[in-house]
Amino acid sequence: MLKKIHYLSLFPETIREGLNHSLVAKAQASGKVELNFVQIRDFSKDKHKTVDDVVYGGGAGMLIKAPVLVDSWLSVSSFEQKALPVGERPYTILLSPQGKLLTQDWAKELVKTHQEIIFVCGHYEGVDERFIDLCVDEEMSIGDYVLTGGEIAAMVASDVLIRLLPGTVGNQDSISTDSLEQGLLKASQYTRPREFMGISVPEVLTSGNHQAIADWNEQEAREKTRKKRPDLYHKILEKFKK
Ligand code: ADE
Repeated sequence: MLKKIHYLSLFPETIREGLNHSLVAKAQASGKVELNFVQIRDFSKDKHKTVDDVVYGGGAGMLIKAPVLVDSWLSVSSFEQKALPVGERPYTILLSPQGKLLTQDWAKELVKTHQEIIFVCGHYEGVDERFIDLCVDEEMSIGDYVLTGGEIAAMVASDVLIRLLPGTVGNQDSISTDSLEQGLLKASQYTRPREFMGISVPEVLTSGNHQAIADWNEQEAREKTRKKRPDLYHKILEKFKK
């Protein structure tokens, strides 16, 4: 079970502040998860604290240099540890638009498999490929678009992971009935008042008939997914065909 997340970043305070709210802050305060922030620039050895340089061959923009990245990584891991089996050592994930797309299923697997995760946030045009070769286990993307850096992506991923830790969300039912938990969106939900601006809560939901409510929720979830996310809906149909 995930216990600790390290962040290697040029803007660690942004991530710290971004994750200091609501249930995620509570999970930290109660010790469910520990977050450790590492400033990559602290590992620069020159007097100007340079971390980036031009791209060999004349590519656009600047890259974060391999030595500062490796040294900052070595402050939270080691090559001896890297040789250990996955699951018994910190798992290094570089946030990058080149990575595998983050999904709820992948998040669940990460939380279950690893005690420690190291998120590395690239900035500028990216990172020297040798850092990836040497230290990174996997690259993760949060969507098919390009952010200015990995910090926001690391915050998104952390929120998803921490939310899955037992006890972060008060009622574990909330997790098991999440949108996407069964591959479907959640059925529409309502709270008081029963009628608002001429729109009534579907009658079945106030009937007290638990079986009828469960059936309605299931049907709604299916219908909503088919309408709003036909891509997900077809994925599920394919799964059932197998
Ligand atoms: N860094 C820049 N763009 C990104 C994305 N889409 N996902 C993760 N990290 C990124």
